[in-house]
Amino acid sequence: MCGIVGYVGRTMDDTALDVVMEGLTRLEYRGYDSAGVALVTDDGIDAEKRSGKLENLRAALAARPLPTSRTAIGHTRWATHGGPTDGNAHPHRGGEGDRLALIHNGIIENFHVLKKELVEEGVEFRSETDTEVAAKLLGREYDRLGDLTKAMQVVVNRLEGAFTLLAVHADSPGTVVGARRNSPLVVGLGDGENYLGSDVAAFIGHTRQAVELGQDQIVTITPDRHEVIGFDGAPAEGRAYEVTWDAAAAEKGGYPTFMEKEIHEQPHAVADTLLGRTDESGRLVLDEVRISEEQLRGVDRIIIVACGTAAYAGMVAKYAVEHWTRIPVEVSLAHEFRYCDPIVDGTTLVVSISQSGETMDTLMAVKHASDLGAMTLSVCNTHGSTIPRESDAVLYTHAGPEIAVASTKAFLAQITACYILGLYLAQLRGETYADDAKSVMAELQGIPAKIEDLLGRMDRVVEMANFMADTRSVLFLGRNVGYPVAMEGALKLKELAYIHAEGFAAGELKHGPIALIDAGQPVFIVVPSPDTPHELHKKVVSNIQEIRARGARTIVIAHDGDEDVEPYANEVIRIPRCSPMLAPLLAVVPLQIFALHLSTAKGLDVDQPRNLAKSVTVE
Ligand code: F6R
Repeated sequence: MCGIVGYVGRTMDDTALDVVMEGLTRLEYRGYDSAGVALVTDDGIDAEKRSGKLENLRAALAARPLPTSRTAIGHTRWATHGGPTDGNAHPHRGGEGDRLALIHNGIIENFHVLKKELVEEGVEFRSETDTEVAAKLLGREYDRLGDLTKAMQVVVNRLEGAFTLLAVHADSPGTVVGARRNSPLVVGLGDGENYLGSDVAAFIGHTRQAVELGQDQIVTITPDRHEVIGFDGAPAEGRAYEVTWDAAAAEKGGYPTFMEKEIHEQPHAVADTLLGRTDESGRLVLDEVRISEEQLRGVDRIIIVACGTAAYAGMVAKYAVEHWTRIPVEVSLAHEFRYCDPIVDGTTLVVSISQSGETMDTLMAVKHASDLGAMTLSVCNTHGSTIPRESDAVLYTHAGPEIAVASTKAFLAQITACYILGLYLAQLRGETYADDAKSVMAELQGIPAKIEDLLGRMDRVVEMANFMADTRSVLFLGRNVGYPVAMEGALKLKELAYIHAEGFAAGELKHGPIALIDAGQPVFIVVPSPDTPHELHKKVVSNIQEIRARGARTIVIAHDGDEDVEPYANEVIRIPRCSPMLAPLLAVVPLQIFALHLSTAKGLDVDQPRNLAKSVTVE
């Protein structure tokens, strides 16, 4: 959840600092409660760090420009151990004369024991962080061994937990050493300069040639080479690849916020996730499967583990996957699954859904499921991230980088990918519904154009958001696949506009929550397609009547041509007609737009809401 950048070049000038600051700007979404940089200069290490957003660090650097350098590291933090203060901000220093600087992403779980050992040796600490323990240990080992890579190897073998570490030493200008366990680190290969980053966004403005480090690896970069070893010291190699998106994709592309841009990228997110899913014979295929078809055919239970928005995507998927495969599907919040003594065996398929692929709660659930003997499959948006690596099979969503902290396009891509998975399993089992695979895939192909159409009709939603800026509470109702959509609408409003919002199953309202309705209470109702079976549509229309009769202000999301809702709606937001299972891919869009514009109307930071971070890498 912190952002990490490292750079080495040949020339002593401002490039190193500029590259690192540019990288931090792109990585700020990973955490933004403090930031810092360290440079190796002719006079040793010079560093600056500040609590608050990156602009505070920028101001400090403007007030006290740092000397030129060709070696720099930079960090943007989401606090775990120790509050977001200047003192706790990274880099932390170690070694004789503080000649070493270190930055860290993750949590060092055994830091108490290590700190005690160092304190007993007379080492003094200036912060409350676990990171400073690693800095002091590394400084001590460097002073003993005189080699930064060797010192790193000793230190990482003493650390427990999740960490990416980058370090520089005053005696080693032109060298940055990095290490990773359970936390990401990517090398960027330049010409006479090399880069390190938590993800490729850190250096995408400079190179697309990347090397992803494996678990428990150490990398040493100089301007002309990168050398990888395992934590055991044995030579190793990362996975080299070319980044297919460019710097513009990591920037706002003319939109005022990343979130608005990402909402408008949703047609692409769905279309790209659908790309290349069939082989020459028209059969569906997954990305990386290390489970045999026979084992998958034997799956008798599916458990989806995920958090937040990703869990709502899982709840949507449950309806469709059960419908197509007749395999029972459970959705479990990953942090609940991990500690609830789940009933799982070799015929259970545990499907994790994660945009970042780094969410610690989800990762721990996947590891636990593997330990219990389940097959694990990851639906993920981030190549090379930890969760897909820990899973037996992967289905990547192709939403592109999601920078805004609140998830939008990843949600649509996750539903799309889960639908592909459901249809794939149906195809494998040869169930009756396998025949539907082709027609559903064909209808899915038409969804991007419908989202595009829908995005063009959002003027009234924007107007509503603007005049509702003072609203204190909003309710969201839905049934069937509309229920998780209602909860997602409420989550978006909570996190973006800091408004109390709840999503309910519309049928549940009369069992209690209807007491919340009084005159003027705004309620969004996600109405199912009139083609939904079991008269569900009629039932929801009745629910609207019930709350309208009690004074609610009803804002109804209904399909084109659904006239039944008109008499009971204060506002109708129309979505293009589609079959019931695909409706969530459309119905959520007005809810995202509403939350985005209400947040903007309140003057809030849409891309970086308070207290949140993009990837939550602590349990
Ligand atoms: C909400 C949001 C979060 C994430 C959740 C899981 O807008 O973004 O609820 O969906 O933290 O994150 P990933 O998908 O990265 O595992």
